[in-house]
Amino acid sequence: MTTVAVIPGDGIGPEVVGPALDVLDALGLGVRTDVLDHVNARTYLRTGAAMTGDDLDRVRRSGATLLGAVGDPRLSGTGYVRGVLTTLRAELDVYVNYRPARLWHDRLSPLRDPARRAVDCVIVRENTEGLYSGIGGGSRAGTPHEIAIDVDLNTRRGVSRVLEFAFSVARRSVCLVDKANAVRNGGRLWQRCWSEAVARYPHVEASHLYVDTAAMRLATDPAAFDVIVTSNSYGDILSDLAAALAGGIGMAASANLNPATGQGLFEPVHGSAPDIAGTGTANPLGAILSVALLAEHLGRAEEADAVRRAVAAAVAAGRVTADLGGSLSTGEAGGAVLAELGQPA
Ligand code: NAI
Ligand code: MG
Repeated sequence: MTTVAVIPGDGIGPEVVGPALDVLDALGLGVRTDVLDHVNARTYLRTGAAMTGDDLDRVRRSGATLLGAVGDPRLSGTGYVRGVLTTLRAELDVYVNYRPARLWHDRLSPLRDPARRAVDCVIVRENTEGLYSGIGGGSRAGTPHEIAIDVDLNTRRGVSRVLEFAFSVARRSVCLVDKANAVRNGGRLWQRCWSEAVARYPHVEASHLYVDTAAMRLATDPAAFDVIVTSNSYGDILSDLAAALAGGIGMAASANLNPATGQGLFEPVHGSAPDIAGTGTANPLGAILSVALLAEHLGRAEEADAVRRAVAAAVAAGRVTADLGGSLSTGEAGGAVLAELGQPA
């Protein structure tokens, strides 16, 4: 008979595992359960061990393990949670994390409510270091023992200057996004620089989210965000998510800035799109909105606003390319914006 190991854990873990086991039972799979209900924070607080060798043996011997959730507010460090989760993952060598996402009913879509769809935020992405620093190396290439290392570089100078910029452009709030609970050294540096920046801007609302939670909030309630400041790699991913929520990558604009030297590089977020290159269907609005950013950088805020109003009008009129549901070519879509600006196309 197959055994299912069950680790209910802490908090709502046992509360949700109960009904889950009822369902497992109702399926009549003919499995028996081996419940490890002592694997929890209470035990850890008493013994200092998250999981014993015997616990691991029971898990290993089972055909599958059902885990509720672990974690306890009395434990500030990550030792206990890692002691359960990381240990299980490593000991069982469960190297794929498989996460289906499926909309079971329209009613469950967070963006059914129009007020929530009103995305108008800025992602300030650190652009020179982090995981994209290019520092790293590898060895034993082509062998079973090959290793590859990419260094997540965080410098006080790099972190504090990007935080400073984020606060300087905030209209109402700045949200720091990191993964300080798991990536601890860089996390601590960001958190220290963050406290200093927050203190310098007492009138800007400051909040902090871990990147997984931030992605969820961004997808469910994007209107809640004003400025998000984050590292190179998280910014890369979150800005694509934000772009998708705002009409797709064809509309997304970006500025690469150095406020100290005045350097500015402006570009649409998208790449060279070889799949549609040459078809005349590319959306020019990402590039056009990058020009708005450029105008602003040159001190021409009024002109920048005019470009944005013209883009909004062209979009409202449906005078857009196919990716936005229109039927115009790249040139015609550009012409539509020009016409709104009062210029001959
Ligand atoms: P991509 O952004 O070029 O294309 C992704 C998808 O979005 C494609 O299906 C494309 O057809 C669509 N798309 C992109 N821009 C669009 C537009 N203006 N209008 C309508 N549809 C649009 O990203 P992909 O395919 O991953 O990369 C293609 C090349 O671009 C690669 O060589 C990549 O390295 C490079 N790249 C360059 C970037 C840059 O210059 N900053 C940024 C991203 C990718
Ligand atoms: Mg990207």
